[in-house]
Amino acid sequence: MSDGLLELSGVTRSFGALTAVDGVDLSVPVGARHALIGPNGAGKSTLFKLVTGSMPVSSGTVAFDGSDVTRLSEPARARRGISQTLQHSSLFLSQTVERNVLMAAQRRPGGSRHSLLPRRQRAARDRVHELLTDVGLAGRSHALVSALSHGERRQLEVAVALACEPRLLLLDEPAAGMSPAESARLVGLLKALPDTVTLVIVEHDLDVVFALATSVTVLHLGKLLLTGTPDEVRASSAVQEAYLGTGREALFLDGPASLDVSRPGMEVG
Ligand SMILES: Nc1ncnc2c1ncn2[C@@H]1O[C@H](COP(=O)(O)OP(=O)(O)OP(=O)(O)O)[C@@H](O)[C@H]1O
Ligand SMILES: [Mg+2]
Repeated sequence: MSDGLLELSGVTRSFGALTAVDGVDLSVPVGARHALIGPNGAGKSTLFKLVTGSMPVSSGTVAFDGSDVTRLSEPARARRGISQTLQHSSLFLSQTVERNVLMAAQRRPGGSRHSLLPRRQRAARDRVHELLTDVGLAGRSHALVSALSHGERRQLEVAVALACEPRLLLLDEPAAGMSPAESARLVGLLKALPDTVTLVIVEHDLDVVFALATSVTVLHLGKLLLTGTPDEVRASSAVQEAYLGTGREALFLDGPASLDVSRPGMEVG
């Protein structure tokens, strides 16, 4: 086993006859800013679920910080420092913004659900406000989540994920539905994260990917097509074909950066 924080070896997940994730090997070092891209249905969200443990692998192993965690439950993996935001939101809509982050902070390793000490409560609240300021929601602490805009909810999801003090943060399409200003803010926030947080991000907005990632993995039909630097990925004809079909390379290189291909095989342009 090499020394990545996250090490995937032959990771496979089938749904009946469909192999959604097919023999993926991947090593993500500590402090990486790693992007996972690929057309719709490539298996990106499924791969995240196999890493967090919200879904079991069909075969293969998931190792985290040198230990095999393949058989560990999702909460057990979370306690070791694996945290994610989901493609589809998991916020508590009827609670306030502040309360959502506070509840996540209480779930982190060492977090206490029952601390009645005013000093600890104050410290916890201060930390929540720091996180909300970082994600640009400082003025919204007391709003109900149900009253937030789509972009604000995505910002809140990042704050919730960070409140767990993750060592590995998995973000599934955090910029989806955000305005350009909101996604620029998100990139700034993620760029400012300390190296102690290793980041793996699934994102269709290639502006976000290339602004952030120092390494990129491309999945296609469940298989790992390529892992390389952003430049290697941009230059790969296999990647261009997977995304766009032949003859559309110029779009990938120079055209609209957001390739939200809403159906497999659908052309962009
Ligand atoms: N629970 C499930 N049961 C059956 N098939 C599933 C299930 N989850 C995912 N799939 C299938 O597995 C494949 C990969 O899906 P996945 O959601 O991982 O793709 P993705 O790369 O995240 O796509 P997108 O970019 O659209 O989010 C798809 O064909 C999908 O229909
Ligand atoms: Mg997905």
